Amino acid sequence: MTRSIAEQSIQELGGEASVLARQRRDHAELDRPMNLYESGSETQDEQRRILKQIVQLTFSHAFAEEVVLWPALRRLAPDGQELTAQVEEEHQEINNLVAEMERMEPQDAGHDQLAGRAFALIRQDIRDEEDLLLPRLQEALDRARLRKLGSAWETVRRTAPTHPHPAVSRRPPGNAVAGVPLSALDRARDLLPVGTRAPNSRRLVLAGCAVLATWLVVTAVRRRH
Ligand SMILES: [Fe+2]
Ligand SMILES: [Fe+2]
Repeated sequence: MTRSIAEQSIQELGGEASVLARQRRDHAELDRPMNLYESGSETQDEQRRILKQIVQLTFSHAFAEEVVLWPALRRLAPDGQELTAQVEEEHQEINNLVAEMERMEPQDAGHDQLAGRAFALIRQDIRDEEDLLLPRLQEALDRARLRKLGSAWETVRRTAPTHPHPAVSRRPPGNAVAGVPLSALDRARDLLPVGTRAPNSRRLVLAGCAVLATWLVVTAVRRRH
């Protein structure tokens, strides 16, 4: 019988480096700031900082799932297609909600309602992954492979985009191709003061493509010389 990864020991999950243990740790890491934000006990500046942290954690985590984990699950599990389609839909909805929030100020009417809906979906996504999708990976892979997949997921997560991009495909190769320039732009934006408004997402994608194109031209020219 399938057991949720929420109920298992680290040993059962394949050790600290296993993708299952890494996912569970990250989910707990995300739950803390969401609870703090919802408690409303912090100053407005602190609330902005907490929200920024939630957004960065959520989107880098989800991007690496879409690029590394869900394609693996589709190859390994007979119901992988159906299960991953469900979480990708959740990810898309979270992208839409947070992109809408990023065009607002925290004090705007409807901002906290959007945050509440996004947090509820993030929690639903975590439950689906810990109870359904990740146990399927556990059934299909031995401990060594769970650790390998964990380190692949972690590598992508560390360099992934950190903001929502609803216009980008939730599946490879589209997301993997757009991920490089978008990540560079997101991480540059993260250096700006908390509360800086989000640029238009279509413009961001175009700017990302321009960065990538420039890089490709420069690389090609350098190779010739
Ligand atoms: Fe996850
Ligand atoms: Fe997810």
